[in-house]
Amino acid sequence: MAQLWGGRFTKETDRMVYQFNASIKFDQKLFEQDIEGSIAHVVMLEKQGILSCKEKDDIVKGLTGIRKDVEEGKLLITDEYEDIHSFVEAMLIQRIGDAGKKMHTGRSRNDQVALDMKLYVRGEILHITKALQGLLDTLLHIMEENLTAYMPGFTHLQKAQPTTLAHHMGAYFEMFKRDVLRLQDIYKRMNYCPLGSGAFAGTTYPLDRAYTASLMGFEGPTLNSMDSVADRDYIIEFLSALSVIMMHLSRFSEEIIIWNSNEYRFVEIDDGFSTGSSIMPQKKNPDIAELVRGKTGRVYGALMSMLTTMKGIPLAYNKDMQEDKEVTFDAIETTYHCLVLFNGMLATMKFNYQNMEKSAMNGFTNATDAADYLVNKGVPFRDAHAIIGRLVLYCIEKNSSIDALSIEELKEISPVFEADVYDAISLKTCVEKRLTIGAPGLKAMEEVIRINREFLDENRTKSLGDK
Ligand code: ARG
Repeated sequence: MAQLWGGRFTKETDRMVYQFNASIKFDQKLFEQDIEGSIAHVVMLEKQGILSCKEKDDIVKGLTGIRKDVEEGKLLITDEYEDIHSFVEAMLIQRIGDAGKKMHTGRSRNDQVALDMKLYVRGEILHITKALQGLLDTLLHIMEENLTAYMPGFTHLQKAQPTTLAHHMGAYFEMFKRDVLRLQDIYKRMNYCPLGSGAFAGTTYPLDRAYTASLMGFEGPTLNSMDSVADRDYIIEFLSALSVIMMHLSRFSEEIIIWNSNEYRFVEIDDGFSTGSSIMPQKKNPDIAELVRGKTGRVYGALMSMLTTMKGIPLAYNKDMQEDKEVTFDAIETTYHCLVLFNGMLATMKFNYQNMEKSAMNGFTNATDAADYLVNKGVPFRDAHAIIGRLVLYCIEKNSSIDALSIEELKEISPVFEADVYDAISLKTCVEKRLTIGAPGLKAMEEVIRINREFLDENRTKSLGDK
């Protein structure tokens, strides 16, 4: 048991208490960030005349040596230290002696852990953004290739109107685009440095907080030292953004599961992204999509957990906040893997165009257009709606589709029908006439693709705080 704070205690901590309190098992994930923050801190301490140049050099050399040794597996992070901060400080003192004891001047573990977690989350926002961009690339590619791949669109999971695969994929493009923008927004709001806030009331040392902040690519220092050590809003915002990403992935997964079912057969998932059954040899299951759908619960759980943890905590730092780490790490890892695997599954998935088109032709998806046809010939819409309703009923009885009826049959239901009706309600016309921006018509889709291509190119070059 190695602690930083033994001075005022006369008895050893109970073993179970120690283990309950310790966080090194999970906060060792913050090792890199802890070193980076400590280097910035001591560089600033030297600039302010609080450390000598030699002391600063010794500490920086010591810290980079520790980082290298851990990276190369020569130094193991072990459980005997309470947390990652204690481990790094103890190693430093072991290696460079007294100068190491000066590293923590003007700092508390409260502002240290606030910084480490911010640096970590900030990096992960970029990481997740890149994974989202990969998915957006795949989606735009599928859109470009499938502008006239007709399929039914659904409401209430009932065939409603015809659309195209490009249009359907475009809906998901917009969702994941908003996710990218949401992350950019969170990044901007959180990018202020808490270091120098001390335990919560700042410090009497003449620290240059703006300088430390700039060394680590922050916009500037946070403006209230009490809030700085107690703020986990950015984690909650990030978990909320991850939850929305997972919600989008889950809806998409559900559709793929339906499209992959024996009844639909709109898609075939690549062998590399599906699994078999141990008993039923014919099975090829959409496990990746199902797992992504299932793991959504975990990420929502992390968000709920953090909201609940934070809700009753008085200012400033309280140990409850140590609970921010495990759930956040798990949610980030889960979302990242889901994005990457889902993207791989989507990019290799084959679309069964024949089945999609056949399904679009069979489900009365042109009923609205048939009504519009009558409206164009002067029939009031409400009457047209009723006429087509009767027509659909007739088709159901005859097991036919509207366009398979003869002109005589059509005229019997309404004399307004003429031979041009077949062209007016063909799948191609139904889609191509929908040309308002955002609709599936070819010209409208081409314009949207151009705008979204620009968005992707711009976003790839504008790299936030990417180093
Ligand atoms: N392990 C702690 C955490 O994750 C570090 C901060 C400890 N500060 C304290 N005053 N005990 O929150």
